[in-house]
Amino acid sequence: MTLSSEQHSSRFSLDFTVYDDDLPDGQRWSTYLDVERLCRGPEPVPDWVVTGRGAIDTELGVLKTGKEADVFLLRRAAPGTDGVVMAAKRYRSAEHRSFHRSTTYTEGRRVRRSRDQRALVKGTAHGREVASGQWAVAEWSALVRLWEMGLPVPYPVQIDGTELLMELVTDADGLPAPRLAATRPDADLLAAYFEQVRDALGLLARAGLAHGDLSPYNVLAAGERLVVIDLPQVVDLVANPAGPDLLLRDCTNLCTWFRRRGLEVDEHDLFGDVIAQAW
Ligand SMILES: Nc1ncnc2c1ncn2[C@@H]1O[C@H](COP(=O)(O)OP(=O)(O)OP(=O)(O)O)[C@@H](O)[C@H]1O
Ligand SMILES: [Mg+2]
Repeated sequence: MTLSSEQHSSRFSLDFTVYDDDLPDGQRWSTYLDVERLCRGPEPVPDWVVTGRGAIDTELGVLKTGKEADVFLLRRAAPGTDGVVMAAKRYRSAEHRSFHRSTTYTEGRRVRRSRDQRALVKGTAHGREVASGQWAVAEWSALVRLWEMGLPVPYPVQIDGTELLMELVTDADGLPAPRLAATRPDADLLAAYFEQVRDALGLLARAGLAHGDLSPYNVLAAGERLVVIDLPQVVDLVANPAGPDLLLRDCTNLCTWFRRRGLEVDEHDLFGDVIAQAW
């Protein structure tokens, strides 16, 4: 396990790392209790979350590589149990990352430590590390907040640096859920899906928020239920001047897909309906 701890006094600062010498490659001791309480998911913690000391995390492989992050499957199990498979979203640092999510989203957000701010501005390696950590924290905060609001999002299990562990969204067979874009629902299910989208956007808007990168690729189809993912750029509809434009884009991305599948919906109607709930 990588235990990183800093001890501060007026005289020294100490960093140390403990490696999982005693575990094979691809395994580590569960990091659940290593992170601070606020880096663990909100109460009530669902029954399926493995919380005990002595549990082992096992890498099962890549689920999907993305533009900013890669999503892996990770099993966490107490000794002698099957445990649970989670999604581990790991934000890339350094060169591996592209930076299309930019100041449109971050306007109004501040970086506290000035060294971090300088590094971000200069685009140094440290700056890129800070940036990916910030996206991870941003997504973590959004997941926690939206989960607590009752939005259909994966339960956030923990955040540790640039790694976010969350509920794996599954389909009716227990396999990782397909993205909405890959599904061909019949007319009834299509209409039911659209109502779920409308409800989710409305709930977000009543909290003054928009997703900001919503598309049929960032919505998963868990059987008859939709789950919204990929939330690091959640936008403040009121404070961010680009908020309404981003909401309209979200509505357009989704309505375009629903129309293509045969449901006559209009992005301006949806937008009007949703934004009215924000004020
Ligand atoms: N909790 C989850 N349960 C099941 N699958 C997930 C989960 N989180 C992510 N995925 C899968 O991983 C993919 C990438 O996740 P996400 O969209 O959060 O990351 P991203 O780096 O922004 O990817 P992209 O650049 O493709 O948008 C998703 O499209 C989905 O297929
Ligand atoms: Mg995505």
